[in-house]
Amino acid sequence: MVVKLADIVITAALPYANGKIHLGHITSTYLPADIQARYFRLRGDDAIYVCATDDFGTPILIEAEKEGKTPEEFVAYWHKAYSQDFKDLGISFDIFHKTSSGENKKLTQYFFKKLQEGGFIFKKRVSQPYCRNCEKTLPDRYVVGTCPHCNAEEQYSDGCEKCGRTLAQGEIKDPHCAICGTKPTTKESDHYFFKLSEFSSELEKWLVENEKLQPEVKNYVLSWIREGLRDWDVTRDIPWGVPIPLKEAEGKVLYNWFDNHLCYISTTLKYYSEKKADGRERWNASKIYHFIGKDIVYHHFLFLPAMRLGAKEFKLPEYIPTRGHLLLHGEKFSKSRGWYVSVRDFLNLFPADYLRYYLASITPHSPSDINFDWEDFQAKINNELIANIGNFIHRTLTFIWRNYGGEVPHPGKYDASDVKFKDEIANVAGNVGEELKKIELNRGLRKIVEFSKSCNQYFQGKEPWSNKTQAKNCLYLCINAVRSLAIMLEPYLPFSTEILWKQLNLQDSVHKQRWNWASKLAIEGGHKIIKPTILFEKVENEKIEEERERLRRLTN
Ligand code: 2FM
Ligand code: ZN
Repeated sequence: MVVKLADIVITAALPYANGKIHLGHITSTYLPADIQARYFRLRGDDAIYVCATDDFGTPILIEAEKEGKTPEEFVAYWHKAYSQDFKDLGISFDIFHKTSSGENKKLTQYFFKKLQEGGFIFKKRVSQPYCRNCEKTLPDRYVVGTCPHCNAEEQYSDGCEKCGRTLAQGEIKDPHCAICGTKPTTKESDHYFFKLSEFSSELEKWLVENEKLQPEVKNYVLSWIREGLRDWDVTRDIPWGVPIPLKEAEGKVLYNWFDNHLCYISTTLKYYSEKKADGRERWNASKIYHFIGKDIVYHHFLFLPAMRLGAKEFKLPEYIPTRGHLLLHGEKFSKSRGWYVSVRDFLNLFPADYLRYYLASITPHSPSDINFDWEDFQAKINNELIANIGNFIHRTLTFIWRNYGGEVPHPGKYDASDVKFKDEIANVAGNVGEELKKIELNRGLRKIVEFSKSCNQYFQGKEPWSNKTQAKNCLYLCINAVRSLAIMLEPYLPFSTEILWKQLNLQDSVHKQRWNWASKLAIEGGHKIIKPTILFEKVENEKIEEERERLRRLTN
């Protein structure tokens, strides 16, 4: 039977091009999206993983100014740095573009026009905070103050990081200029608004009917809709952004949350146009997954779908997998305090696959928070990855290498335990795949670990070192189980599984395999492996102690 493969577009929330990428973003967004994309590719789907830097917006303008760079230079620097970080972490984007690209500007202006034609944009004179000292209008992050909902201090005027609400202009209490601290005065300006409120019932229907969205997130968003949605000011009086495509709006740009999510689409269109395919058609024929962290639920569950509903040309997402914040030893990451681990810091200490393993194993498909803990990291790597998976792989390969000159023995007649183990190999990929289909990536990994435990038990029970007759079936089945592990672990551990694939002396690359081939006994008797080396080195106490000590110093 020929199974029709699905077209899938996976996006990960676009990182602001301002140097603030940290393990939290990797945990909630880039890693889960990567595991999912790799799984779909192995399954044989036409899945593309799309991302870009989020280049516009006031924070970037502020930081570029501070460094004495043009915003273009500033974002170009970070685009390059992120590309390297992502590559070193094995994040397999098919395309990594930027919101300041010509393609995205064009699509954004097109959307603005479409929404305007549809009657969803209106103009209103607003009075804006203005700093006399800096001689600037002060949108969004140029103003800081106290959240009117939860009273958290030092919040940006466009949203509270503590309670997660987005704030309309003028709502923040005790406002002051983020650059010089002056209390702002006001200045009048014409602004364009998007009629978000008109979409309330359509959004509600979409949320209620879409069973694939996580219920806990959905309920949150439904309560926002029921409280009443406000129309959305999409104009900024700053020199950095997509220009509003109207003569009368000269000098004004669109708010960066108007254009950034459109970059999911414009980047997909670019990808397909380079492949000489019709991107629009492909987008609309694809299943769409937008992976995000829970701090941007409002934007992805309201602004994004409402704009697509208004423009009526690009379909809405089926899935918006939303995950929680990463804490470091129970506390929020803070770069300024040093309570922080960057991707680079980590990669300077341990292999990328260790980070991928640990984060994948502790991150559920839910918006609840996740805790990064160095001792827990060490325990997961040493007692789980190495003690179960690594151990089984290593003992199988070295046993064949030492006792059979690297040649896989031919199997004979199976006994009951062989049959049982053979069935486990035949079923495991299907079972793990059930979890990955549901985006339950940590559960998928758990099932792989359970499988490796049962591989070890089988090996142990067969005692190939003392029972030569049983040894042949045992090693034949075990080497095939190692191959199955390599395929199933590829989405989680892309670097180590490729090394393993080479040690198994198998053709091509592990990345090019098919998921259901993991259930086959594809390595035959007589096949030669190459000399095995240790895949996973233990995480030593000293390194963990150093990291703990660094954190301890920060708390004293
Ligand atoms: O919150 C953020 O980090 C944003 N840069 C995410 C943007 S996602 C988008 F493009 F929709
Ligand atoms: Zn100022």
